[in-house]
Amino acid sequence: MENAKTESDPKFISIEGIARRYPAPGGGSTTIFEDLWLPVQRGEFVCIIGHSGCGKTSVLNILAGLEEPSDGVVVVDGQAISGPSLDRAVIFQGHALLPWKSVIGNVGYAVSSRWRKAGRAEVEERARRFIDLVGLKGNELKRPAELSGGMRQRVGIARALSIEPKILLMDEPFSALDALTRGTLQDEVRRICKSTGQTVVMITHDVDEAIYLADKIVLMTNGPEAMIAEVVENPLPMERARDSIHREENYYAVRNHLVDFLVSRSRTFKAEMPAGYDRRHPPVVRLGRPPEPAPAPANTIPFPVIASARD
Ligand SMILES: Nc1ncnc2c1ncn2[C@@H]1O[C@H](COP(=O)(O)OP(=O)(O)OP(=O)(O)O)[C@@H](O)[C@H]1O
Ligand SMILES: [Mg+2]
Repeated sequence: MENAKTESDPKFISIEGIARRYPAPGGGSTTIFEDLWLPVQRGEFVCIIGHSGCGKTSVLNILAGLEEPSDGVVVVDGQAISGPSLDRAVIFQGHALLPWKSVIGNVGYAVSSRWRKAGRAEVEERARRFIDLVGLKGNELKRPAELSGGMRQRVGIARALSIEPKILLMDEPFSALDALTRGTLQDEVRRICKSTGQTVVMITHDVDEAIYLADKIVLMTNGPEAMIAEVVENPLPMERARDSIHREENYYAVRNHLVDFLVSRSRTFKAEMPAGYDRRHPPVVRLGRPPEPAPAPANTIPFPVIASARD
């Protein structure tokens, strides 16, 4: 794998002032969101959380190059996005497999699109490696219709990872799965992404999924005219396990912060905007940690600590 995390690359992905507008039924236009700014570091796992309709899928589609922003630009690794690319793999909720191809055919098709000169044996070997990685060994010759929903989603994940994308984009990839399958797949995706230094942007509605998987959690306010309210740095240790995560220090602090946002602040944020809020540098929330570099004075409340993204 070639995606090893490198030193200081604070803006591997740079979302710069993007907007999405649609024509309104009675004339004029509806602004879903505008002037959205967000940096993502190389190797970071970022989750975007927000209520239905705030524009999460639109942001992801713009990152994928499947939709053009109405304004602004997304720069990846120093280059503005101008369309879809094999550098950016997308896992959709509906997995979007080719129904006439087998499991190995679906993954192999992606591999051979990426490495056009690769021989058949090489493509097959690589496809098998990723099919094994997501726990589908023995199912290589089945077609999507012969698989369960969870298995199909695994094929989508194997296909996305097999092309070694610079960025993995996921739109609620686990939401349609039963709890057991969801947990297993979250474990696998986290293990694979962390071991390869994969940069990931994932959309979810699920607070616990975000806390388990993400390094940073981006909170979007309700639409229309949605905004990035905050970027919450996950205070949990990198080495965390699903079955003991609730015993980690700050687990409840971060969970309560996210739930409070979804329950009330996502609605009221705009009316109660914090002084000095700057769309270009959404506030970074560091729960349980003093702002860097200066330690918090003794008479301040230790958390939530809100620091500027420029810190
Ligand atoms: N082609 C379109 N024409 C008009 N409005 C659209 C179009 N596509 C999306 N929208 C509107 O844009 C808004 C954002 O849609 P989007 O799918 O990005 O939301 P979302 O945050 O992903 O929601 P969900 O959580 O339900 O998936 C919605 O209000 C939707 O109605
Ligand atoms: Mg969506």
